[in-house]
Amino acid sequence: MDILKIEGLYKSYKSKKEEIKVLEDINITIEDGDIYGIIGLSGEGKSTLVRCINRLETLDKGKILFFDKEINEYIDIMSLKNKELNEYRKKVAMIFQHFNLFEQKSVYDNVKFPLTLSKRKISKEDKEKIISLLEILHLKDKINRYPSELSGGEKQRVAIARALVNNPSILLCDEATSALDPETANEILEYLRKLNKELGITIVFISHQMNMVEKICNKVAILSSHKIVEEGSLAKVFMLPKSDVAKRLIYSEKLNMKLDDKRGLRLIFDGNVNEPIITMLIETCKCLVNIYFADTRVSEDKAYGQIIIQLPYYEKDIDKVKEFLRLHNIKMEEINL
Ligand SMILES: Nc1ncnc2c1ncn2[C@@H]1O[C@H](COP(=O)(O)OP(=O)(O)OP(=O)(O)O)[C@@H](O)[C@H]1O
Ligand SMILES: [Mg+2]
Repeated sequence: MDILKIEGLYKSYKSKKEEIKVLEDINITIEDGDIYGIIGLSGEGKSTLVRCINRLETLDKGKILFFDKEINEYIDIMSLKNKELNEYRKKVAMIFQHFNLFEQKSVYDNVKFPLTLSKRKISKEDKEKIISLLEILHLKDKINRYPSELSGGEKQRVAIARALVNNPSILLCDEATSALDPETANEILEYLRKLNKELGITIVFISHQMNMVEKICNKVAILSSHKIVEEGSLAKVFMLPKSDVAKRLIYSEKLNMKLDDKRGLRLIFDGNVNEPIITMLIETCKCLVNIYFADTRVSEDKAYGQIIIQLPYYEKDIDKVKEFLRLHNIKMEEINL
């Protein structure tokens, strides 16, 4: 079932002097249970998009439809007012890069806070809910601490517990791991994965860190020039990126360097190879092969994945390499990064 459908969304900010277009014709469908990554460079409009989903912004054009499991139908979130909007925000919760905790409140009171907004008394069930979330997130021994007494990872876990206290269907994570060191960031990913699996929460994961997205998301969309340039399953987009920006984002992070004007050849293995192809290539073509990047795994003696090699300098050597690969039925694609 699709839990969130974004259709033809346009958003711009208008100042007296100019109009800044931030999102153009965004179409995204998120299924219940997805961990959906939205990737893009700084300023592309990622945070604006989550703010639209959370109804903190209005749209210029388009629709955002949310499947409300309580009434078993889609609601157009732009039509929501006051009480309905408050109810919607309980179902679509959010965490941020800088945690946004209340410094003067304890861990327990921070997590309790969203429940106090509805002005009803905190019940025994509410208290149990808070405790169980603190248990899931391994924070029970920190229950009376204040944010200043917590590490970054612990603060983010408190923020996650607070976001979950109203049993949301969707958790929006805007750069939720960007302020953390890699080890702590991985730990937060583990918790998010666990919450997705055990509580069935759909996660929208906004990030510019490809390695984080790759670890957790099952689907991704890539924003470039304020539009979605690529969308689909993680495997499809990361293994076979089509747009230049996707290639640059995915490879340059993996390669961890800029190739500047160097030409690369991407070899794609989809189970059709069971020979040591690179060794054979070097022997047959009598040229050196510089490997930029390799991400392959062998299953039942067959290779899957990809290798990016630098193309030889001379055209005649390039022709030889390509001919060899064609003969061995290796799919290839020339790339300039
Ligand atoms: N309230 C606002 N008024 C005017 N312009 C804004 C406003 N909020 C954001 N913008 C502009 O919209 C563009 C997109 O901003 P946004 O914060 O959505 O980008 P982002 O992809 O989240 O970037 P980052 O990765 O740096 O967080 C930027 O050019 C920004 O300056
Ligand atoms: Mg942002």
